[in-house]
Amino acid sequence: MALINWENSYSVKVKNVDTQHQKLFTLINDLYDAMNQGKGRDVTGKILDELVTYTKTHFAYEEQLLKGNGYPAFAAHKAEHDLFTGKVVDFQKQYQEGKASLALPLMTFLKDWLTNHIRGTDQKYSSFLNGKGVS
Ligand code: FEO
Repeated sequence: MALINWENSYSVKVKNVDTQHQKLFTLINDLYDAMNQGKGRDVTGKILDELVTYTKTHFAYEEQLLKGNGYPAFAAHKAEHDLFTGKVVDFQKQYQEGKASLALPLMTFLKDWLTNHIRGTDQKYSSFLNGKGVS
């Protein structure tokens, strides 16, 4: 069973970004499934690595889009990305060193952060980017 399901209310009205957000949902669900199924650290570690890498890729894409179009709240938006990336990378290191395990609180944190960020911070740029012809 999926931890989070995509629905239209998550749309930021920019096609490429919606596709990337959907991929992030898929990776979080894959991680959740692996945790629930008691998959080994090698399997879960690979999914976690993929999630961290793809999150960085997505943030870089979004930041380039926002900066390139002169989005006024770019700095604050990037600061949120940097904070989240720092937390997840820190967890990833602890996981790789065997000091942390996958658990429901972590999955809940990932889900809540992502959905709140998309519905709050990300959706604030929709009309700005659409107004610049980006959709
Ligand atoms: Fe889609 Fe600001 O992350």
